[in-house]
Amino acid sequence: MKIAILGLGYVGFTAACCIASEGREVVGVDPSDDKIDDIAHGRAPFEELGLQQLMDKALANKCLRATKSISDALEGAELAIVCVGTPSSTSGAHDMRFVADVSRQIAQEMAACETRTLTVSFRSTMRPGTTRNLISPIFAQIVGSNWQDRISLVYNPEFLREGTAINDYFNPPKIVVGTRDAAPSQIMEDLHQNIDAPIFTVGYEEAEITKFVDNSWHAVKVTFANEIGRVCEKLGVSASKVHEIFVSDTKLNISPYYTRPGGAFGGSCLPKDVRALSFIANDVNANTHLVDSLIRSNEAHKNHQIDAILKRLPKSTSAQVLMAGLAFKADTDDLRESPNVDLARKLLELGHDLKVFDPHLDPSRLKGQNLSHVYSALPSIGELLISKEEAEAGTWDLVIASNATADRLTLANSPVYATHSIQ
Ligand SMILES: NC(=O)c1ccc[n+]([C@@H]2O[C@H](COP(=O)([O-])OP(=O)(O)OC[C@H]3O[C@@H](n4cnc5c(N)ncnc54)[C@H](O)[C@@H]3O)[C@@H](O)[C@H]2O)c1
Repeated sequence: MKIAILGLGYVGFTAACCIASEGREVVGVDPSDDKIDDIAHGRAPFEELGLQQLMDKALANKCLRATKSISDALEGAELAIVCVGTPSSTSGAHDMRFVADVSRQIAQEMAACETRTLTVSFRSTMRPGTTRNLISPIFAQIVGSNWQDRISLVYNPEFLREGTAINDYFNPPKIVVGTRDAAPSQIMEDLHQNIDAPIFTVGYEEAEITKFVDNSWHAVKVTFANEIGRVCEKLGVSASKVHEIFVSDTKLNISPYYTRPGGAFGGSCLPKDVRALSFIANDVNANTHLVDSLIRSNEAHKNHQIDAILKRLPKSTSAQVLMAGLAFKADTDDLRESPNVDLARKLLELGHDLKVFDPHLDPSRLKGQNLSHVYSALPSIGELLISKEEAEAGTWDLVIASNATADRLTLANSPVYATHSIQ
C-alpha cells in the first residue's frame, strides 16, 4: 500500500518514518523547502529520540521520500494521511486554513482523475463537526456530488507525545477511528495491523472530540497537581508524600471513578471540603483557581439539568412529576447538600405537582444537620414522599431518575429523564 503523508511536522514526519519502517511505501508532502531539502539529504527535520535512525533505515530501504508535489505523492496512493498544523487563532479557536487548503488540494487531484479512489485520514486536531461540515463540503464542491463513491474520509486522532513520539506511535494508549456512519474502515485496520491497542470505531464527531477531552484532562491533572503542590508548600506539608499517597489509591483517585458525566456532586463531604480547601488556599495565598472554580461549575451543572427537565415538562399546566431518589446517593437518607433537594425545591417553586419516591427516607427519623437542611430547603417533604406502589401506579408527565433508586421502579409509560447518568 502506497501512503501519502501531507504535512511533515512532528506528527507527519514521525508517522512517515514509523510507517516506512514497516516496509510500506511512504511519500511525504510539505511546502517547506527546508524540510524537503533536509529529508533529501538524509537529515531529520527536527530532533526526536530515535527518529534519525528510523529515517536512515527507511531511506536505505527506499520506502521513504519527500516532495513538494501533492500530485506526485497521491499518484497510486491508496491512503492520504493529513497532518497539517491547526494552530491557535486570535479568538482561541483553531486556525483551520491549513486543513481547508490541503483538503482543497487533495480534492482537486481527485477531480482531475475520475478513476482514482482514495481514503483520506485526518490526524490534525480539529473541532467536532469539521470533517462533516468543513471538509466534506469542500470535496463535494470540487469533486462533485458523487464524491463519496471514490473518496472515504476518516478521522484518526494522534496521541503521540514529543520526546517519546516513536514509542508512542507503535504503542498508543488506544486507536480511535471516526467514520461517517461509524462503520469500520478496512484500510485503517490494515494500517494499524501491527499495533496492539484497543480500537474504537465511532462517528466523526466522537473521534474529533477525543483529543480535546484527553488534552484538557491532562491539563486539569497538571493544574490540580500544581495547586495541591502550592497549598502543601505554603502549609509546610511534603507534596511528594501527599502525591505518593494520592496515586496509591487506584480505587477512587487514579481510576475511572467519578469520570462519567451525570449528576452534580453533593452530599455531606464534597461541597463542604472543596469550599474549605478553597478557603485554606486563599488563606495561605496559594491561589487555587481550579479548585476555586469547582463549586461554581457544579452549580452550573445543576442549572443545566433543571433547564433540561423544564424543557421536557408541559409549559401551560402544572406537571405531574415523580422524583425517584432525593438523597444525594441511593441507599442513604443523607439529604445534606443533595443536588436532588435543590431540584425538588425548584420544581415546587415553579408550581409543579411533585412527588418523591425514596425508600430510605423517613422524615420522622431524620436528625441533626440532615433534618435542619431538608426542613429549610423542603419544608413540605412529608407531603411529597409516596410509596413504591403509588409511584408505580401514578401517571407522570416526567419521572426524574435522580439516583439509582429509580432502577427499583417498574414504570409503565412515563417518560424518564436521568440526572444521575449520561444523557
Ligand atoms: N506535536 C504533537 O505532539 C502533536 C500530537 C498530537 C496531535 N498533534 C496535532 O497534529 C497536527 C500537526 O501537529 P505538528 O506538531 O506536527 O504540526 P507542525 O506545525 O510541526 O507541522 C505541520 C506541517 O504541515 C505543513 N503544511 C502546511 N500546509 C500544508 C499543505 N497544504 N500540504 C502539506 N503540508 C502542509 C507545514 O509546513 C508543517 O511542516 C496539529 O493539529 C496538532 O495539534 C500534534
